[in-house]
Amino acid sequence: MNIPVITIDGASGTGKGTVTHIVAKKLGWHLLDSGVLYRVLALAAQQNQISLTDEAVLAPLAEALDVRFVETELGQSLSVLLEKQDVTDIIRTEAMGNAASKVAAFSRVRTALLNRQRAFRISPGLVADGRDMGTVIFADAIVKIFLTASPEERALRRYNQLNAKGIHVNLSALVEDLRERDKRDQERLVAPLKPAMDAIMIDTDPLTIEQVVARIMIEVEKKGITAA
Ligand code: C5P
Repeated sequence: MNIPVITIDGASGTGKGTVTHIVAKKLGWHLLDSGVLYRVLALAAQQNQISLTDEAVLAPLAEALDVRFVETELGQSLSVLLEKQDVTDIIRTEAMGNAASKVAAFSRVRTALLNRQRAFRISPGLVADGRDMGTVIFADAIVKIFLTASPEERALRRYNQLNAKGIHVNLSALVEDLRERDKRDQERLVAPLKPAMDAIMIDTDPLTIEQVVARIMIEVEKKGITAA
């Protein structure tokens, strides 16, 4: 039997990560935060003094990447290990998000990470979040969601998230960073950020996280899938 996948794509700051965790937990399914792979690759490149523009070296590095996701005590929140080093927090910075979007633009890098992502498709099901989950990696997903939000709202959410962690950033610099990253993700030639033809679009601006989850669960239930 084909193991079902729900894809949740969208730009950063649309709430994808949080929503994906909640939906996966409700269903009792596995989850894949695909952005982590690009973030860890960017970190590994930096640690090995590899240029973020050197596709020929980045692709084999991606292929050999020793990255592991470890489930922590706290529900389904995951720790990320790069060669046994806990990099959960280091990879979450804006700088690393930006570096990730640079390495993610290379087709050989994306190909190198393809099977690694598909390997997350394990019974009873997978909720996968990213940019190309519905268009490329799991094009046969049973439900495809594409979340949108205005740049201002996304920057504000990110600002509040970082503040809550004690990381103080400048809001307008954050808006600039987001715009730059969006542009790179949307304009790249391979797997650009765009909704799949059969994706359900949800504008999250006027919605709370709970409302977004409720909206997604309606689509999931329409397919005969029920919460665990
Ligand atoms: O989702 P997150 O912000 O962690 O992603 C970091 C970067 O990784 C994105 O800006 C994007 O360039 C890249 N990415 C991607 N494809 C994915 C997930 C992330 O290109 N499926």
